[in-house]
Amino acid sequence: MASGALTAGGAPETTPPLPQAVVVPLTRAAIFLIVTINPGAASEDAVRSLCADLAALVRAVAFRDSEGQLSCVMGIGSEAWDRLFGAPRPAELHSLREISAGSRRAVSTPGDLLFHIRAERMDLCFELAALIMARLADAVTPIDEVHGFRYFDARDLLGFVDGTENPDGQEALGAALIGGEDPGFAGGSYVIVQKYLHDLERWNALPTEAQERIIGRTKLSDVELDDAVKPTSAHNALTTIVEDGQEIKILRANMVFGRVGHGEFGTYFIGYARSAGTTEQMLINMFIGRPPGNYDRILDFSRAVTGCLFFVPSASLLESLGAAGTPAPIAAAAQIPQPSAPKRDGSLRIGSLKGEPRNE
Ligand code: HEM
Repeated sequence: MASGALTAGGAPETTPPLPQAVVVPLTRAAIFLIVTINPGAASEDAVRSLCADLAALVRAVAFRDSEGQLSCVMGIGSEAWDRLFGAPRPAELHSLREISAGSRRAVSTPGDLLFHIRAERMDLCFELAALIMARLADAVTPIDEVHGFRYFDARDLLGFVDGTENPDGQEALGAALIGGEDPGFAGGSYVIVQKYLHDLERWNALPTEAQERIIGRTKLSDVELDDAVKPTSAHNALTTIVEDGQEIKILRANMVFGRVGHGEFGTYFIGYARSAGTTEQMLINMFIGRPPGNYDRILDFSRAVTGCLFFVPSASLLESLGAAGTPAPIAAAAQIPQPSAPKRDGSLRIGSLKGEPRNE
């Protein structure tokens, strides 16, 4: 295996696990592919063997365009983890819990594996997705496939710039990657995905000022509303989580998708977090409200039609899980020294991704 973000070959034992390509710059295109694993040991073997070889598949496509920024993150659902690897398991891995309040529902839908494929060009994403599916062939059943694209100014189809307050650099690593709190799974992440469909006719009938109060930012210039005018139900208010005086962030990589002829206009929400509980708290605040009833008015115009939670192993763990097919590598990863007092403020101290080879 050549070196790369998805490979750990040759790394000294004291090196922290290399993450998958969770923290990467915004790209123009993405494919979100969710599958379930078919019954039978042969299906499980096929998936485990892909875990070992995914990095090589990414390289096979990425090498053809060095500016294409191709990357792929593979996530594993709770039931799939038990089938494929058994114990030990990541501390916070569970199926997404459905949230229901009035007509608002954060649904929980089937999904054993997520492939989050990103690149500057859709053809690279498409080629990699095709290679992955060819490898898995009869072992999986596709559940959902969304081809997302970047819209003007990185806006969503509601017309607002989406992603402005995302953490970056070291702060993004600290927000998205597990550290010493679960040492056997350090360098991993929890990812929640939801596919939202918007009622754009009703949304666009709202005055811009009303839309801005729902999002919590100005539409054209993307400036955060002053606290004096921003309602406590604004989207960016309800998704701000503060613990012990410290803001806990997640890392989002939302994409626009749609089918104009079918009147389908959507946002694919994808949020990576060091703790699944952070994103789940945001969902509770949005759907139930903070306090209950003070919910996110985006949901009067948008509904979630899918919802899944996955664990994203570090690149090194993913590869070794695939190679061994047993939990043994997890124990090995647990030997790796971790920060004794992990902080959630970006000081994960797993080392910077800057200057390290990306998942290409
Ligand atoms: C219909 C789906 C959604 C749309 C269209 C949407 C759109 C937006 C927009 C326009 C912003 C403001 C700009 C920015 O900072 O990115 C934002 C902020 C944010 N959103 Fe969403 N979002 C959606 C769903 C979600 C969900 C499901 C979550 C979490 C569970 C979430 C978490 C956040 C967070 C954490 C922020 C940053 C808040 C801040 O620190 O100011 N969003 N979103």
